[in-house]
Amino acid sequence: EKGKLAPTQCVGPLYRSESQKPTATVSTEVEFETVTILPQTPQLIALLTMIRDVNTDRGDFIFYSNRIIRLLVEEGLNHLPTVEHTVTTPVGRPYDGLSFQGKICGVSIMRAGEAMEQGLRDCCRSVRIGKILIQRDEETAQPKLFYDKLPEDIADRWVLLLDPMFATGGSAIMAVEVLISRGVPEDHILFINLIASPEGIKNFAIKFPKVRVVTAFVDQGLDEKNYIVPGLGDFGDRFYTM
Ligand code: PRP
Ligand code: URA
Repeated sequence: EKGKLAPTQCVGPLYRSESQKPTATVSTEVEFETVTILPQTPQLIALLTMIRDVNTDRGDFIFYSNRIIRLLVEEGLNHLPTVEHTVTTPVGRPYDGLSFQGKICGVSIMRAGEAMEQGLRDCCRSVRIGKILIQRDEETAQPKLFYDKLPEDIADRWVLLLDPMFATGGSAIMAVEVLISRGVPEDHILFINLIASPEGIKNFAIKFPKVRVVTAFVDQGLDEKNYIVPGLGDFGDRFYTM
């Protein structure tokens, strides 16, 4: 709900007693099954605290954002299909494990989404990456599509769509429309995002009930300029130019 305060509660692993857990504002919960919010661990909350702080300089902003992006990509990969895979260990015993099935690619929504590409490459060696350039109009917050360049066989791939900020949802919706127009099935798209607003999640999840979303945090809402609050300001500016 718009304006509803995110809860402040104890955060910490099960093995710590409640009295030993720090309190912090945690993510707003959402009602959509397709949306996964990262576990609100002390580590994640501390990383988010760093990047939300207006006094954090660009070097630290990049470093701590990259750590959260890594956690998001690792969680995102859990949503991809697997097959049973048995291997033999060096002591001659079988181990019944898993391997990933199917081809993937990343697609970043430029500019800010490009900041997430390295995190994906760190986990998926030589992954293919497509680009969609969408910019929000600074006055109206309406997204505008300028350019896209996607792998030719994208319709046969699982797509990890990358954008750290999910405000009104307009940019992400436009990007998914581009992917669908290239033949990517909705349920083969996974949107990986750092901070979302409840409004953005709702607009998106109602429009695309089969597209999965993995986010680190759902914030309180949007301000009069459609910036996420409390948010972290303009991600692209803080990562690339400030
Ligand atoms: C930001 C952000 C998202 C979009 C989110 O990009 O990276 O793409 O706004 O807002 P929305 O959900 O209301 O569409 P912006 O257009 O400012 O460009 P940038 O990536 O160059 O900073
Ligand atoms: N884009 C950003 O970078 N931040 C916001 O809060 C909203 C859109």
